[in-house]
Amino acid sequence: MKVFIAGASGLVGGNVFRHLSSRNIEVLGSHFSFPTKYTIGYDTLNMPSSGEDPLVKFSPDWIVHCGALTWVDYCEEHPLESYEKTVRSTKNLVEKAKKIGAKMLYISSDYVFDGENGPYIESDELNPLSVYGRHKLEAETHVLEELPDSLSLRITNVYGDEERNKNFVSRLIELSSDKEERELKLPVDQYATPINAYDVARCIGHLITENKSGIYHLASTDFLNRMQLAQRVLSYFPNEQIKLSSVFTSELKQAADRPLMGGLIAKRFLDEHPNFKFSNLDDYLRSKSS
Ligand SMILES: NC(=O)c1ccc[n+]([C@@H]2O[C@H](COP(=O)([O-])OP(=O)(O)OC[C@H]3O[C@@H](n4cnc5c(N)ncnc54)[C@H](OP(=O)(O)O)[C@@H]3O)[C@@H](O)[C@H]2O)c1
Repeated sequence: MKVFIAGASGLVGGNVFRHLSSRNIEVLGSHFSFPTKYTIGYDTLNMPSSGEDPLVKFSPDWIVHCGALTWVDYCEEHPLESYEKTVRSTKNLVEKAKKIGAKMLYISSDYVFDGENGPYIESDELNPLSVYGRHKLEAETHVLEELPDSLSLRITNVYGDEERNKNFVSRLIELSSDKEERELKLPVDQYATPINAYDVARCIGHLITENKSGIYHLASTDFLNRMQLAQRVLSYFPNEQIKLSSVFTSELKQAADRPLMGGLIAKRFLDEHPNFKFSNLDDYLRSKSS
């Protein structure tokens, strides 16, 4: 099996690259603006013509699409750029997938829900609150309508090993070795289900080799607000210089509305894979602190 990973320079894509390579699947990964040792540059907004296109030459069975503009507040203030990088880039990749007969696995988010009563299962009512959430839903819907054998995987609050250490958990671990005094204002009313990017990659390995289609939610056993998440990290990496202050989301005056009672339940995935074990945040923090 051959898999092209768009956005392999990022947190999720990098882990998918590592995992699928370890399973002897033939993998080609791309970056957009951040070159890595293992990716090729591939601009989904200015695609090469078919004769010179490395994606067409590679001719994968699956395209795992991890590319998006993921900075939620920036998307709210730059909706055209958000549309280009999240929706139009997906539409362009879908056209390529059709040409070469590839299936697509799209990575979506719990931001397609309004956070009134999460965590959510796959059949729950959709109601995105933000530009980012609406664009993720538009891209997801497009993939599923245009490529009927394809997959959309919804995830949230991803942490794990990555080239740039920019996810919340990794950044906090990094800050914990710093001597500078800091106050972090963290919302106590934003709940989600943190998941390790490597578990996302393991699930993707199952789903594409089993030729599944449709929507899946992925989540571990953790259901935490941002404050609890930071407390858990610092319980493994204590640093007196970091002061955590509880706030409500409304006090932060963020540009984009968040689903407050968000998060996901991996109902369909666990129904179909009852023996699959997700790791949790404690497992990850223990491994990093030892
Ligand atoms: N992290 C989370 O908590 C979370 C939660 C829910 C959903 N998701 C979704 O999961 C996917 C991966 O997120 P992530 O956390 O891995 O984000 P990330 O680390 O920011 O990675 C995003 C990737 O997308 C690439 N990219 C950006 N614009 C692109 C474009 N127009 N064409 C192709 N690639 C492009 C980036 O390339 P460069 O870095 O090289 O520019 C990077 O490789 C995204 O679709 C995101 O919406 C993430």
